[in-house]
Amino acid sequence: MQAQQIRNNVHWVGAVDWERRLFDELIPLPEGTTYNAYVVRGAEKTALIDTVDPSFADLLFQRLENLGVTSIDYVVSNHAEQDHSGALPLVLERFPTAQVLCTAKAKGMLADLLELPDDRVVAVDDGATVHLGGATLRFIHFPWVHWPETMVTYLEEERLLFSCDLFGAHLATGSVFGAGTAELLPAAKRYFAEIMMPFRPQIARSLPKVEALEVDLVLPSHGPAVQEPAAMIQAYRDWVSDTPRNQAALVYTSMHDSTRRMIRHLADALVDRGVRVEVFNLATTDLGKLAVGLVDAGTVVLGSPMVLGGAHPLVAYAALLANALKPRTRFLAVIGSQGWGGKMVEQLTGLIPNLKAEVLGATLARGLPSADDLVALDELAATIARRHAEAGLPAA
Ligand code: FEO
Repeated sequence: MQAQQIRNNVHWVGAVDWERRLFDELIPLPEGTTYNAYVVRGAEKTALIDTVDPSFADLLFQRLENLGVTSIDYVVSNHAEQDHSGALPLVLERFPTAQVLCTAKAKGMLADLLELPDDRVVAVDDGATVHLGGATLRFIHFPWVHWPETMVTYLEEERLLFSCDLFGAHLATGSVFGAGTAELLPAAKRYFAEIMMPFRPQIARSLPKVEALEVDLVLPSHGPAVQEPAAMIQAYRDWVSDTPRNQAALVYTSMHDSTRRMIRHLADALVDRGVRVEVFNLATTDLGKLAVGLVDAGTVVLGSPMVLGGAHPLVAYAALLANALKPRTRFLAVIGSQGWGGKMVEQLTGLIPNLKAEVLGATLARGLPSADDLVALDELAATIARRHAEAGLPAA
């Protein structure tokens, strides 16, 4: 129940949710998560940066008490989503003179989501600062990490960046310094894929604001501290760019083995032509791993048997998910099997307009794939490899 020291005047007072396995009733959390809150104490004033999921409010208060925090002047709300803001009403009740500092958009959202009283919330401009006495917080508006109202906060004297959901990871560790870069980057990539990827253009626009700062340590709102900020920023710079890799994600399900045989043949044909392949069987795959696979996929191949005249619902679901996540994928293909016919290809390609991917073709077998079908898959593999090369997609 103790706070964890980050600097002499900066402590972590958040919560570790070791056992949470699902976020938004959608996103798998195999490693749990944390809800990070931080206290910054200046010579004159004290600020709490973000709160915790409301189910952990008692833990937040215990850590504050053990740290000897008896008054809070400011609660910086970088993000209005309830996993960070949900304990705000209780915090304001316990510290009756505290003011919430957030963006103007967040002020409206906090009123809508938590019914925070208007007179307790102050909107801060982009670049505004507050002085705590030897500790200066600068607020940097950074919309869409991960809602439109988000901002990040920079502690100038210590060169600490409280980065909101940006640079976060759903990774429960007992210590705020519990993961090095090698462990953290894969978790951060998964987090990016699940949470941040739909906002690639917006993040790319605001990233220079963070790149312009001198940052010694990033303190995100989920997961451990980022001890090598340059490596994380460079990774994000890559992930938000428009260029995927020479890689294909083969996403499929199969009922009677026909589609599976086609996927396996295509996978081998792609590998033979120098394309890196990842295969996701939707009956068993972890959706988080699928999301990570979409980050770098130059081509997505959807494989499905025809069911009642359309795609298997698992594949339709994956297509909807890919459409929501908006990966930078350039090309799309549909393969699969059918008994008698239907509209599967039109249905699946129609489900993912956000990708703006060029449809390279469709190969449908009647039952088990014939020799001609396998030749068609070889031709599809050749087309994918050629188009990746023409697009200059770098090696995976
Ligand atoms: Fe972790 Fe978007 O809240």
